[in-house]
Amino acid sequence: MRVALTYNIRQEPLPSQPVDCYAEWDEPETIAAVYAAISSENDVALVEANERVFGGLSSVDPDFVYNIAEGLHSSSRESLVPALCDMMRIPYTGSGPFTLSACLDKSRAKQILSYFGIPTPGFSILSNLNGDVDALNPPVILKPLWEGSSMGIRNDSVGWDSDTIRKKAGELISTYNQPVIAEEYLRGREFTVALIGNGERLRVLPIVEVIFDALPADANPIYSYEAKWMWDNEENPLDIFSCPADITDEEKHAIEYVCIKAFKALGCRDWCRIDVRMDERGVPNILELNPLPGILPDPDSNSCFPKAARAGGMSYDDLILAVLEEAQIRYANGDVL
Ligand SMILES: Nc1ncnc2c1ncn2[C@@H]1O[C@H](COP(=O)(O)OP(=O)(O)OP(=O)(O)O)[C@@H](O)[C@H]1O
Ligand SMILES: [Mg+2]
Repeated sequence: MRVALTYNIRQEPLPSQPVDCYAEWDEPETIAAVYAAISSENDVALVEANERVFGGLSSVDPDFVYNIAEGLHSSSRESLVPALCDMMRIPYTGSGPFTLSACLDKSRAKQILSYFGIPTPGFSILSNLNGDVDALNPPVILKPLWEGSSMGIRNDSVGWDSDTIRKKAGELISTYNQPVIAEEYLRGREFTVALIGNGERLRVLPIVEVIFDALPADANPIYSYEAKWMWDNEENPLDIFSCPADITDEEKHAIEYVCIKAFKALGCRDWCRIDVRMDERGVPNILELNPLPGILPDPDSNSCFPKAARAGGMSYDDLILAVLEEAQIRYANGDVL
């Protein structure tokens, strides 16, 4: 089969851009590793998801698109390749345009979760024009509304009083040029959960726990930009994950149940990594869904989806090919959702 691998490759930010503005894009090693895995069974062509992506897909004329592209601009950026594929009638891996947009805009995902009765922390949206945080129970965590990879989520992104919250929100709005989501801060244990498949075939890989004890002693217990990209590096890897998580069967079932519900509520396809945190009563809440999960190939780097796959007995190549297989089965069943 001829497969087009659609991707965005990481760049150095310009001096005028936030240091973390390309944090979501993939390193050349990741693109090469995904390419190698798919190539073991297919002819693969690389198509960069830039302004020329339509021409790239037209000239390759693939049987299938393997999509890992995070896209270029705005809250619709992850939807571009899937929307093009829908228009060009090319089957592709992963979620469709609506799901990718709704999950990138954390507030839309949370509204849908709430409709389905799935626990998620209370929130408010702050923009230059409006926003109210007084109804939220402090402390509150502030995050850019449509980013990932902890962009803009710093060790000091938690605020207790409305003056501090508004000041921090103002800084984020001007740095990232988008609204801010202010979310009630949950202090319980945190997990991240990798799911593969669809319908009856949907399965949960071994659960990963984020171990905040690994952070510097005075750090806030959040998986912040500092924790992901500064305190964790090749020379001093941070031992921040435990997989399979040390939890009771009851906790495991509760986490798996809420993640499967969330996956279906948002209409995810083929794979997704879901972040979960317990509230003070031990109820797992959904923080956010990542339908285009990070997939660093190096086992020494802290990349949760490949880590969960390894704990479940799948190599990196197995994982990449399993996603393609699930997508093919979904299309063969005439069932895009
Ligand atoms: N409501 C919350 N309560 C407690 N901690 C939170 C909350 N929201 C976010 N966090 C902390 O901040 C981290 C990053 O938040 P979130 O997962 O929403 O950001 P992201 O940039 O989309 O992450 P990813 O790298 O998974 O794409 C979480 O892993 C968690 O540690
Ligand atoms: Mg996250």
